[in-house]
Amino acid sequence: MASSQEDHPLQTQPQPRTLPPPFNTSPAPCVLIAQGAESLLYRTTFLTPTQPAALKVRPEKKWRHPTLDKRLTRQRVLAEARVLVKLSGEGIVAGGGGRKVKDPKKGKEKESGGDGGGEGVGVGALRGVVPAVLGLDWERGWIVMEWIEGVTVKQAIYARDLADEAALKGLLRRIGGVVGLLHKAGVVHGDLTTSNVMLRPTVSSSSTTTEEGEKTKVGDGGDGAGLDGDIALIDFGLATQSISDEDRAVDLYVLERAFGSTHPKEEGLFGEVLEAYGESMGKGGKVVLRRLEDVRMRGRKKSMIG
Ligand SMILES: Nc1ncnc2c1ncn2[C@@H]1O[C@H](COP(=O)(O)OP(=O)(O)OP(=O)(O)O)[C@@H](O)[C@H]1O
Ligand SMILES: [Mg+2]
Repeated sequence: MASSQEDHPLQTQPQPRTLPPPFNTSPAPCVLIAQGAESLLYRTTFLTPTQPAALKVRPEKKWRHPTLDKRLTRQRVLAEARVLVKLSGEGIVAGGGGRKVKDPKKGKEKESGGDGGGEGVGVGALRGVVPAVLGLDWERGWIVMEWIEGVTVKQAIYARDLADEAALKGLLRRIGGVVGLLHKAGVVHGDLTTSNVMLRPTVSSSSTTTEEGEKTKVGDGGDGAGLDGDIALIDFGLATQSISDEDRAVDLYVLERAFGSTHPKEEGLFGEVLEAYGESMGKGGKVVLRRLEDVRMRGRKKSMIG
């Protein structure tokens, strides 16, 4: 196992200039992992030097009107935090620049749950499946969450053993099952792609704990070589709390289209996702799957018209 020093080399470089306070002066190194159109994702530690964390920063967009930019940044940070707090059932730490999840309009502290699925519906339903929120500051546009070990499903499928179709089917079924749980909890993701689903090594109940208190992990998921492992969902910046069949069907459609274009060779197996989704959603799943057919039809008409 890599030592924590290997994982987090002592910082000799100044922190990147894009980091907001307090991270721009923090002794914890921030290593850039991914740069999307809207955000920068760093691996760092939070509160203690041994707690690995993902820091997502949404830098100011100079080309947008400043008022609109602030509003969009605040909306995305809060949407992500609210949904993660609701789904993980865990509160967040206020401190180190972080804040509690408040409704900025009402100035009231907001409990998880709330809008959409009814008070308390789905709270904690995806504990361990989504990262817990550790802190945030919507004015400065950042959120820190639990670090998820492993790789994205996109990477895992690219690196898969082509001969092992059963493993891929199993993975697709696990994804469908988790999306069903998400929808049942009253949340639609808004940006389901194989880059926003992660595969992390399974920690078995028989896993051992080292002297440093770290869990020894088993299973081959997450090392890029296999498709075993637990599913985790990330990137909830476009998530909404909704129990509408239409929203749920569109969520599935987005995943279906993204899957087909990212993994054209595997496209024919997407039915596994939908079958497992139907099982995990129960009665309501059938209605959503029927609705998905309408959404597909509209999608086809739209692309024919251009
Ligand atoms: N909690 C996490 N633990 C480990 N890695 C993460 C975590 N969150 C994100 N990542 C990694 O960073 C990448 C980018 O993160 P994310 O998808 O949240 O950002 P994004 O696509 O740029 O976001 P947005 O579309 O909201 O601008 C992910 O594909 C994943 O590899
Ligand atoms: Mg993403």
